[in-house]
Amino acid sequence: MVRRAAHGCFVHLRALLETGNSCRADCLYCGLRRGNSSIERYSLEAHTIVDIVSRAASGGFRTVVMQSGEDAGRGPEFIRDVVVSIRDCVEAALTLSYGEWPAAVYGMWRRAGADRYLLKFETSNRELFAFLRPGRTLDQRLACLRFLREAGFQVGTGFMVGLPGQTLDDIANDLLLLHHLDPDMAGIGPYIPHPATPLAQSCREWNCAIRSEDSVLGNFCSAEMTLRCLAIARIMNPSLHLPATTALETSLADGHLRGLSAGANVLMVNVTPGFCSRNYDLYPGRHVGNDEDPRVLWNRYEGLLAREGYMVSPDRGDGKGNGASWE
Ligand code: 5AD
Ligand code: SF4
Repeated sequence: MVRRAAHGCFVHLRALLETGNSCRADCLYCGLRRGNSSIERYSLEAHTIVDIVSRAASGGFRTVVMQSGEDAGRGPEFIRDVVVSIRDCVEAALTLSYGEWPAAVYGMWRRAGADRYLLKFETSNRELFAFLRPGRTLDQRLACLRFLREAGFQVGTGFMVGLPGQTLDDIANDLLLLHHLDPDMAGIGPYIPHPATPLAQSCREWNCAIRSEDSVLGNFCSAEMTLRCLAIARIMNPSLHLPATTALETSLADGHLRGLSAGANVLMVNVTPGFCSRNYDLYPGRHVGNDEDPRVLWNRYEGLLAREGYMVSPDRGDGKGNGASWE
């Protein structure tokens, strides 16, 4: 009801392009961590990225999200040049999700023409954050979010639900931190154990507060808890853009639709070429790009949403906070 009052029956479709899977970070939960030698690393060429983004935009998507691991090899200038090329020929809103960088890099990407940036805080528990993300701190992460806002980005953040060691108090604090940060967008998704990560391997030693073994995927409770978090986040932040995340769709039958019923108003549609997306191995069972034309995907989602009583939003779905000061 709160979603309906703020967003009507409209759902924003965002095209997601995973431009590369190399990462300098070593997060204990993530399959892209640099310590995972079992995946093949890729990096899309600039002309391929521009081509796919252009096709997504002409296929109907009014936002394209470009994401990769924190790839130090390519360098921030590479992304800047790609953004400039995209801006020359594409009108759609452009969201970047490239991890933690100095304020000057964020400023450079913003000036090149990127509109939005996605950087989840992952968990509001300082100790858990530092444990899960070796060498990183929650304070650094929050400083990055501040830099992004100061650079004039519309900012997205969010957290994972059901992390080993995460308590219900932590999740309540995640929701409070989210509200305090007052972002334009928030990705809230279930943690899905990845067998090639230390976290999944050592999980049994942890006190997993809400994880249960009684479902097919072993993380049923995380997904159910995610639905509750989406509903609470929606009530706390009526105008927030809230995707029904890919991780939710992966871990729950009809996860997208159940996410929308719980209060989400955004769906991410993967337009990454299949051979790359298979190696964008954040967690197992992910719905990967399958080389379909973006327009075909757009039409399919539009039909699926119409059957459920939703309409694809005709506008870009900008946030309220473009350029606003932080805090
Ligand atoms: N389960 C769920 N989400 C994950 N992410 C990374 N690893 C996992 C996992 N095992 C999410 C994080 C990160 C984004 C790139 O993917 O929230 O921000
Ligand atoms: Fe890299 Fe992000 Fe995965 Fe961490 S969560 S290893 S920063 S891709």
